[in-house]
Amino acid sequence: MTHTASLNSVVRLSDYKPYPFSIPSISLDFCIEERLVQVTSSLQVEPLADSQPLILRGVDLELLSIQLDGKVLDAADFVLDGSLLRIPAPPLQPFTLTTVCRIDPHANTSLEGLYASGGMLTTQCEAEGFRRITLHPDRPDVLSRYRVRIEADRQRFPVLLSNGNALSQGPLSGDPSRHEAIWDDPYLKPSYLFALVAGDLREVRDHFVTRSGREVALRLHVEPGDEPYTSHAMDSLKRSMAWDEKVYGLEYDLDEFNTVAVRHFNMGAMENKSLNIFNSKLVLADAETATDGELERIESVVAHEYFHNWSGNRITCRDWFQLSLKEGLTVFRDQCFTADLHSAGLKRIEDASMLRNSQFREDAGPTAHPVKPDAYQAIDNFYTTTIYEKGAELIRMLRTLLGEERFMAGMRLYFQRHDGEAATTDDFVAAILEGASADRDELGFDPEQFKRWYHQAGTPTVQIHRAWDASTGELTLRFRQSTPPTPGQPEKQPLVIPLLWALLGPNGEPGEERLLVLDQEEETLVLEGLSPSARPPALSLFRRFSAPVHWQAVQDVDELFLLFAHDDDPFARWDAGQQLWRTLLLARASGTRDSDLEQRMLEALRGLLAIEGESDPAVLATLLAFPGGAELEALQKEADPPALFQAACGLRECLGRVLAPLLHQRLEALAPQLSQAWPLGQGERQLTAVIWSWLAAAGDGAVWAQALAAVHGPSMTLARAALRALLPIDCSEREMALQCFYDRWQERPVILDGWFALEAATPRTDGLARVEALLAHPRFDPMAPNAVRAVLGGLAGNPLVFHAANGSGYRFMAAQIIQVDQRNAITASRMAKVFSRWRSYAPERQALVKQALDQLAAAELSTNTREVVALMQQG
Ligand code: BES
Ligand code: ZN
Repeated sequence: MTHTASLNSVVRLSDYKPYPFSIPSISLDFCIEERLVQVTSSLQVEPLADSQPLILRGVDLELLSIQLDGKVLDAADFVLDGSLLRIPAPPLQPFTLTTVCRIDPHANTSLEGLYASGGMLTTQCEAEGFRRITLHPDRPDVLSRYRVRIEADRQRFPVLLSNGNALSQGPLSGDPSRHEAIWDDPYLKPSYLFALVAGDLREVRDHFVTRSGREVALRLHVEPGDEPYTSHAMDSLKRSMAWDEKVYGLEYDLDEFNTVAVRHFNMGAMENKSLNIFNSKLVLADAETATDGELERIESVVAHEYFHNWSGNRITCRDWFQLSLKEGLTVFRDQCFTADLHSAGLKRIEDASMLRNSQFREDAGPTAHPVKPDAYQAIDNFYTTTIYEKGAELIRMLRTLLGEERFMAGMRLYFQRHDGEAATTDDFVAAILEGASADRDELGFDPEQFKRWYHQAGTPTVQIHRAWDASTGELTLRFRQSTPPTPGQPEKQPLVIPLLWALLGPNGEPGEERLLVLDQEEETLVLEGLSPSARPPALSLFRRFSAPVHWQAVQDVDELFLLFAHDDDPFARWDAGQQLWRTLLLARASGTRDSDLEQRMLEALRGLLAIEGESDPAVLATLLAFPGGAELEALQKEADPPALFQAACGLRECLGRVLAPLLHQRLEALAPQLSQAWPLGQGERQLTAVIWSWLAAAGDGAVWAQALAAVHGPSMTLARAALRALLPIDCSEREMALQCFYDRWQERPVILDGWFALEAATPRTDGLARVEALLAHPRFDPMAPNAVRAVLGGLAGNPLVFHAANGSGYRFMAAQIIQVDQRNAITASRMAKVFSRWRSYAPERQALVKQALDQLAAAELSTNTREVVALMQQG
């Protein structure tokens, strides 16, 4: 049976119906042959309602036989229609349905279902990949106990893994060249959590003793030669297990936990029950081969997938509209984990910055959708920053509104009440509120109104107006919230917005933090009895980034500088600086430098950079970081990426030139800590990176040489910082540094992807020709999404080449997406979102992108990519 992509078939939440059968257990038999794999599946089926047809899904399967209670089904007893198998009148009593299918993992380039990566066979079933393995309802509300037998050649596939407990493994009696393994997973699970891995893998072993004293075997499986790079991931796993016990009281529930690293993988990692599968870039790492940022990312992804064991696996999603139930919650949990282990303040800034630069952009464009969408064509297109990061923000707002203790009581009830179930986001909110034993009246907000956050797309804006009576000391704050129209949602209603705020003293002394809940379109807060003075007290707003909204600064420049120097909330302090950086960069991009403000910023920076200034290098580096391009584009009348790029280069050049003596002084002070192992020395390296980028932009030859030397050095963080500092500058050090990085790491695909990305992002005049050469490079693997994303993502981030005035960058990207789509729809449709900002460009630029989109739309595309392209053409 083949996959006939049904055009425009929309799946709607309102059409949800429970599956009319339960399938308490499934037995799967995989016979791995030379090229093909034969899959025998026996489903125990129990009808839940009278006389309903049984519907199963299958894609790219060769159906060899189908039996009901051991009897071959007559052709008249079932209908095969594209990817659907229908048995119109199944028995009204429990029965066993046995199917035998053949699949070809080597021909499967989609990286969904069972596929080959290197010499191994591996699976990816979320969201709808299980139907590429066998006939099954393949929906998350059908939960079964799985028993799996795998049989394969012993030499080619010495390791045979699946979910749950290994019951037995050994040679086949008839044929000593072959062996088998039998796995049993005692927990009910949906098909998307099924996994199988077969290959010649090396195992790294460790263990974890749970708080109730059970010993869990931890096994990490990697390709031969990669064993030395596994200890960071293994340590991260142990920290995650300990954290979930300590904070949520949740223990791991099986005797073994397996993790496999795979080179060819569409996503970052996957939480299959007790058999997590990771993109190898998120496993293989040490300080010499990965940056600090990558080490932190690995720690958080390992935690994320581990945390899914409860938030996702033990409690799963009823349907894919509930995706944020597991993803938003698990992102929230991994954010808290990282905040606890490192710096809560800096983590919050990272998350806020990420939200502003990716989620806000999504929310403002043609693919905007609510955290709980009500319709989709391809579910793979909905693994978005809105479902993940905005979903996590909604949970964080609940915590802010309820307070930590009550919120955690709610979480405990959620995990108890829904264990073993497929739940909804409504179930989640209900459990949180009930567990918090929050009385409607003392809640301080209306839960139904809060739930609008799940259904309304778009980023709300809060306008703030301030009036100050200098003689009486009365401060009046007026708030007005609005949410812009988004595709399919022209009208918006007011939301529940928690606003954490404080007033600072005249010299920046911290004031008491308070919570204000905004829930009307307009409301007013009057504060009386403040000390009368000419200027109002400085206002610290949306502390800890208490809601995922835009707001317009009411503070004047003096106040912003005061907050930038003194606000005791790390987010609000950083944000005051961001307001200033934004103003400076936007002015430069529009061709009118704000010299006064630049002078004042230089003054402030002198204070911070001086040795007696800001002493925490990580904080300082964060304060000095420019706002992201996406954020700035959204503030321009006509988004102009090349102008923003030039503005950033120009400002860095100015800062590097004017502040050179102070910057060098800081660099020297940082040097002794640079060689410390992560997480130590991280702030020092981060600050060094910022300083290098400023001084390099100012043409400081000594720094160019220092950067070039770092590429040979022992720290990947510094090597990549050096390359980033040199990248915008047309100098021989840049070319030498790139060459040197390539020479050093050419044998290591995961690291070389970083080189591909940097090369593609280098703003050279012959940039497009270089990108073409990269795609034809002998070490470029077109089947590895990491490599494709490195080159095409690097190009998309190359302001001068991608956004070339003749449109060549756009057309080239469109042609590449069409090619990628032929083999890997998931990767292609994600890539297609690089065009999502096009409606905000100037008319000439819009016309060029439109050509590229038309080129895409005229091609034969997958359902996934077609959905994205169509949205962008409408938007
Ligand atoms: N369940 C997802 C992975 C996934 C999603 C696989 C869709 C296939 C299709 C996993 O838990 C996840 O969310 N992974 C993220 C990383 C995470 C830290 C946010 C990823 O893969 O990017
Ligand atoms: Zn996840």
